[in-house]
Amino acid sequence: MIRDDVGLASVRRRVGRLPKNLESSGALDIAKKLGSISGGRVLDVGTGQGGFIDTLMNTLKDYESFVGIDNGDSHDSVKGMRDGRAHFMGKPVEFLWMDGKGMGFEDGSFDTVCISYGLHHLEDVDAVLTDMRRVLRPGGRFIIQELYCEGDKTEAQRVDRLQHEWCTVIDNLLGMTHNKAFTRQRLLDFASYLGLKDLEVFDSDRPMDCLFCEMNQLCEDPRNQAEFYDLMGRIDETHDRIKDYPDPEVRDRIKEEGEVIKKAIAGSGSAASSYLFMVGTG
Ligand SMILES: C[S@@+](CC[C@H](N)C(=O)[O-])C[C@H]1O[C@@H](n2cnc3c(N)ncnc32)[C@H](O)[C@@H]1O
Repeated sequence: MIRDDVGLASVRRRVGRLPKNLESSGALDIAKKLGSISGGRVLDVGTGQGGFIDTLMNTLKDYESFVGIDNGDSHDSVKGMRDGRAHFMGKPVEFLWMDGKGMGFEDGSFDTVCISYGLHHLEDVDAVLTDMRRVLRPGGRFIIQELYCEGDKTEAQRVDRLQHEWCTVIDNLLGMTHNKAFTRQRLLDFASYLGLKDLEVFDSDRPMDCLFCEMNQLCEDPRNQAEFYDLMGRIDETHDRIKDYPDPEVRDRIKEEGEVIKKAIAGSGSAASSYLFMVGTG
């Protein structure tokens, strides 16, 4: 459940006690920007289990309601949406199974539209962005948050990127669209394609969630056993997804690559990729 003691107010109380590299990571600037925005009726495209809705609830100045849409039909996606519904029970959040391309909403029916870590999952990025622009009311906010590929500042980030690329190969074998991270310039091009007014671009190498987390980055420490075993387990689970793939050579090659990534995590830890956060007015 969302607790009342998390949120931008609690971050403000903790600023100064945040680890230095988190304080200077850019994540705080993004959270402050969100803290100046009244979200109104918010649409989150490619919502998964609503992780970004949680972040927005913690950071937006205020909001009326959220609609999260996702069209994933795998077991994990269906479970993710069910978990999201349970997590936000009693909050003004609705989850809909819907494609971001050709959405069944009226023109201009949202005050804020967003997509977080979703662009590289889309089969047709331009079509989804165009439809998001259509359902945004004139003067509303368009928010894009997305990782990019050339922003590694640490070995831990490089390891995370390799793991992500390894996952894209597995998803592609299973017929799912999952691209490697785009370049930073490509993300800027997507935003300029939308022709937003007053576009603001923020760079960060720390997820905003870190601001609300009491772990203070222990999770990046390879000696942090809980995080380490969790990551190892996730790599095994990801590999298991291709257990029925017909070509054993492909399965074995991918398993070996997974073992190399496990060793790299054991040595350097793993830290989320750098990302761009862009907000403009429609
Ligand atoms: C990495 S997840 C996003 C996670 C979430 N937004 C967050 O920030 O925690 C990307 C999601 O995009 C969804 N997706 C991919 N193509 C889509 C489309 N055309 N319409 C709606 N959702 C889509 C996938 O099913 C997946 O759940």
